[in-house]
Order: sequence, then structure tokens, then C-alpha cells
Amino acid sequence: MPATSVIGAQWGDEGKGKIIDLIADRADVVVRFQGGANAGHTVIVDGEKFVFHLLPSGVLHEGKLNVVGNGVVVDPTVLLDELEQFESRGLKLRDRLLLSGAAHCVMPYHRVIDGLQEGEKAGVKIGTTGRGIGPAYADKANRCGIRLWDLIDESRLRVRIQANVSEINRFIVAVHGADPLEADAIFEVAREQGRRLAPMVKETGAFLRRLLAEGKHVFFEGAQGVMLDLDHGTYPYVTSSNADSLGIAAGAAVPPAAVGHQIGVAKAYCTRVGSGPFPSELHDELGEKIREAGGEFGATTGRPRRCGWFDVLAARYSAQLCGFGGLALTKLDVLSGMGEIGLVVGYDIEGLGRVDEYPVDTHLIERAKPIIETFPGWTEDIRDVRSFDDLPANCQSFIDQICDRVGVSWELISVGPGRESTIIRSVA
Ligand code: IMP
Repeated sequence: MPATSVIGAQWGDEGKGKIIDLIADRADVVVRFQGGANAGHTVIVDGEKFVFHLLPSGVLHEGKLNVVGNGVVVDPTVLLDELEQFESRGLKLRDRLLLSGAAHCVMPYHRVIDGLQEGEKAGVKIGTTGRGIGPAYADKANRCGIRLWDLIDESRLRVRIQANVSEINRFIVAVHGADPLEADAIFEVAREQGRRLAPMVKETGAFLRRLLAEGKHVFFEGAQGVMLDLDHGTYPYVTSSNADSLGIAAGAAVPPAAVGHQIGVAKAYCTRVGSGPFPSELHDELGEKIREAGGEFGATTGRPRRCGWFDVLAARYSAQLCGFGGLALTKLDVLSGMGEIGLVVGYDIEGLGRVDEYPVDTHLIERAKPIIETFPGWTEDIRDVRSFDDLPANCQSFIDQICDRVGVSWELISVGPGRESTIIRSVA
């Protein structure tokens, strides 16, 4: 069985949670490979809402193994809270959750720095989730991070926390006039968290490679999306990990050739949270209407999401960069009754004129005005539709337009939040 992955094709929040949950059902093991508690997947099962930040979505499926790979940054406080929450709802997780010892920890000081540094970095305000993600990845790259293997080794943990906190204190006190942090208090909490997590900490790379060799179905679930990828997104308005499928091999410790079939998830329109260029953004009441109809408020921070039409250039770029084998189109139902529906098919960039391919350089995207083609909408409620042929003709042709222009066929179409509100062509 080849591996499968699900990747956000836009700016995150594409409705991946539900698609991931559906595919997790067919997998033997579900793997997260990047990001941290900045993610927020919402899955609705039998009307019950589950919000995930760190745990792989396979936890909802009895008997599935779940791996948090080395590319994830793990906030032990969030992880332990999430474990408790899910366990209190009757799910048994600890014997089927493996945490890579090489995954880095988000420490309390990373959150402090995330808050203090917003607005300070080269004059750019990113609008982060405030979860300490950037500072944790910065420590990883700077080789002073604390890995889960360190968290569960008291003597190493003490030395590392003391060294890091004394360095950070010099910086936050002198530069920001903030109160110094107490290394001993941070150590005591972290030591206890390490004790509780220790039974789950393993070398997960070898484990995953063995499963792949045995032909097991390994499923990689992406967080965020291609346009928020550190290398390939709208830098610097991005997250600090490789949120596209190029991050899978490094973040799960598997060979690139094992990555397998990739499904790109895209909403039938676009949203973005935080700052950064977003050419398709609708600044009028239509944007407000989509936000309300789609419940477009962040699962992690509750912030209102910026809304716009489906951006063909961005989605095609994502598809070509990652090599998507199929598309999952979500939230089609939100567009019911919107009147005419737009697709961004080009950018008009000051000084360059019309551009038909996504230009990648953020400075160009900042100057881009959307070229919009409009299509007749539909008024029917499509939430109970279960086959493509039963969708209103205008909805079918809108989907065809998207797939033709992005260059990838649809595999799943989501017409409502529940598992059942899905049209499935074929799932690997
Ligand atoms: P950070 O990941 O908290 O550092 O935030 C960096 C940027 O990524 C900000 O614009 C966030 O709003 C955005 N971001 C991070 N995680 C998500 C997500 O799961 N969905 C959508 N946007 C996200």
C-alpha cells in the first residue's frame, strides 16, 4: 500500500481536518511531520466537535497508530492537555501514540519571545498565532533547542534550560524591559511533563520506514498550507516549517520516494489569517458574507479570517510544487446563494502587466491586483447531495473550471462539516 498525504493547497484552514479524518480511517498509521500547536483541525463526528492542535487525527479512530514526527515542534503543556481532553471523552490513546524523540519542544520562553518579537522583525508584523512556533524552530536551527529526548533526561534538561534561560533573560530584559524568567520554575514543570510523556517517546523514523517496507498504509497529515510554507510561501508572512509535501521526508524521517499519493485540499474560495499579501481578498460585504456563511474564524486563535475568491494561480503553484495527484475541494456549500461566483485567473501587477503564473516573489504579490472571472452561482442547498451528478449544473461547472485550471482532478468534494457530507470519487 503506498503512502498518502493530505496537504493544504492555500493559506491553511482549507478544511483539511475532515479530509484527514476520512483518509485516516483507511490508514494503518497517521503521521504529523511539521508545525505545532499553531494548527487547529476541527472534526465533527456524530455531531460532536473535536478540535486538534497537536495530536494526529488518527486518534479518533480506534486501533490506529499515531506518530508525531521529528519535524513537529511539541508544546508539552498543550499535548498533555489535549491527551487529557480526549481521554476524558473515552478515547484510549497512550498505547497508540508515538512521539519522535528528535521533535523539538516549544518551551514557555518561546511563547514569551513570540509575543515580544511581533512587530520587531525587520519592521514586519506577521500576526503569528502566538504559540511560540517561530522561536522554537529558530532554536532548532540555532542548535540550542530542547528535543523530547532532552525533556525526558533530567540532567540534560536542567543544563539546557539554565543555559537557554540565562541567554534569553539578557535579551528580554535589556531589549524589551521585560521581567526575567525563572529557569528553576521552568525546569520543574518541564521535568514533570517529561516524566509523563516519556513512555511515548521513541525513535519513530525507523518505525515508519519499517511499516512502509511492510506495505502498511502510512498517512501523512499536513498542517497549515503551501502558501504558509517557510521556503515556498509568501515569506516572511509564513509559518516556520515546511508546510508543503516537501517537508514530509525530512519531518517524518522517511525517503522522499516513499511520500506517495498526495491530495491537495483547497476551499472553494480562499481565506488567510494574519498579515501578508492575499490578492484575491474581498474587502467588501461579499467578503463579510463568506466569513459569516463559512464560519471563518480561527480554530486556534478565534481571529476572523480574511476571505476572497478561489485563487487559481496560488492553487496551481501549490499543485505543481507538490505534485498533487488529486484535489479535495471543501466548503462548496458555503457558496450556495452567493449570486455570481469569482475565480482569480490572473494578477495585474504594477509595472509588469498581466501575469498568469504565481510569481513567488512576495514583493510582486503585494502589488498584484486580481483579475477575476465570474461564473453564475446556484441557489440550491447542496448539503445533502452525495454524488457529483446531483449537484446543480452551475456548481458542477464551477468545480470543472477549478480542476481544469489547476490541472488536477477532484477526488473529494465536501458539502458540509460532517463526515457524511462528502462526495468521494476515489481515495487512495
Ligand atoms: P505562526 O505559525 O504562529 O508563527 O504564525 C505564522 C503565520 O502562519 C501567521 O500568519 C499565522 O496566522 C499563520 N498560521 C499558522 N498556523 C496556521 C493555521 O493552522 N492555519 C492558518 N494560518 C496559520
